[in-house]
Amino acid sequence: MKNVLSWILVLFLLVSVLNNCLSNSVQKEASQKVAFIDNLRKLYSSGDSSKWPKPILDPESKPSFSEIGHLPDVQFPSDNQYSSEKELLGKTLFFDPRLSKSNQIACASCHDPELGWCDSRTFSFGHDRQIGTRNAMSILNVAYAKSLFWDGRAKSLEEQSQMPIQDEREMSEHIDIAAGKIGKIKGYEILFEKAFGDKSVTKDRISKAIATFERTVKSSSSKFDKFIDGKSEIYTNDELMGLHLFRTKAQCMNCHNSGYFSNSKFENVGTSLLGEKGEDLGRYLITKNAEDAGKFRVPSLREVPRTGPWQHNGSMMTLTEVIEFYSKGNPEYSQKRSTVHEGITLHSQKSGMVRMLELSDEEISQLEAFLRTLSTKTDRITVPELPR
Ligand code: HEC
Ligand code: HEC
Repeated sequence: MKNVLSWILVLFLLVSVLNNCLSNSVQKEASQKVAFIDNLRKLYSSGDSSKWPKPILDPESKPSFSEIGHLPDVQFPSDNQYSSEKELLGKTLFFDPRLSKSNQIACASCHDPELGWCDSRTFSFGHDRQIGTRNAMSILNVAYAKSLFWDGRAKSLEEQSQMPIQDEREMSEHIDIAAGKIGKIKGYEILFEKAFGDKSVTKDRISKAIATFERTVKSSSSKFDKFIDGKSEIYTNDELMGLHLFRTKAQCMNCHNSGYFSNSKFENVGTSLLGEKGEDLGRYLITKNAEDAGKFRVPSLREVPRTGPWQHNGSMMTLTEVIEFYSKGNPEYSQKRSTVHEGITLHSQKSGMVRMLELSDEEISQLEAFLRTLSTKTDRITVPELPR
């Protein structure tokens, strides 16, 4: 009997020692995690990005890499300098449907300030309610884009602005006729005179004024900007971990980098649907280089929560869906994407920088929480009175 009792005592002691050890190690792990997060918070909100943890980058991305951070000041080209008069004229034209054939569709119809300066649609509709084939891009921060459109077919905002006016599915108006119509509106004379020195209306001046206005449509300081400037308490742990994942394990920064969150290059992430309904050859249509089939311009991620649905074809309805797509490494290769275009066989070569990431559900939601800190609130825009 005595023997049995002492055995029970020994067993009891053993269990309690083990239990103690276990809870110690759980506690230790938890306190290590807290220390890790505290340290990350200190580094990322230090105001000095050289103190941040080193990013995980592919060798391929290094030549075009620059660290994420604030947007720099907007540069205006020397042949189209800023003036507030030109901005006002450009804004007025941007909201004026008389640039279109039907007198019904303005730039702002598809680039609506209340909808993140795009239109919340998969595909826009334009003249005669015809549907386009690509998702409307936001013009927020477009001053920083090195080329315009998903395929980069316009080199400057001045060049770009005439394209939607002439596009049959968008505003469907000949640019000379559009300029002629604006020239006949008395109320525009004073606006052109103030912006350009005399009242003559030309397509060139229309382009310059619209481009000047677009360069002023810029994000204010986001939660991300405030956090990295030292407001260390404004980020939740999830937002902080999302930022860290973005720069490290998830490797988003291979392509989405700089203050604009884009390397301004063309990349193939496997969205081109070659050989299928909805196929889009992207950059290839401009360069005719086979390796460009299925490449699109890396979009900025500033304000991205406000510009859905996402991708060149608006095919993704939530940000979670976009991040899950990257996490799986988009196994497009298994679908043998190829197509014959004008007698030439083209293949979709997905970038080597898109690979299986195996993010956990927690990590996916942390990345999304971080992306949401790149957004700012919708500014109330006063729509200018249209001249008569
Ligand atoms: C019918 C809808 C529609 C109208 C009207 C329209 N756009 Fe667009 N806009 C789009 C779509 C769709 C795209 C993307 C097209 C593509 O990449 O091929 C786009 C792209 C752009 C871009 C490129 C942004 C970037 O980041 O590269 C700019 C700038 C722009 N539009 C300005 C304008 C201006 C200025 C006007 C008026 C003169 C205008 N848009 C009228 C739908 C429209
Ligand atoms: C290889 C370069 C590359 C990498 C790496 C990459 N992206 Fe992208 N990203 C792109 C390109 C190119 C597009 C446009 C694709 C399209 O329109 O079909 C895009 C589109 C997006 C969009 C949609 C933007 C819009 O306006 O529609 C989001 C959101 C996004 N990426 C987030 C991420 C996140 C988060 C990561 C990391 C998990 C990441 N990207 C990694 C190149 C890349």
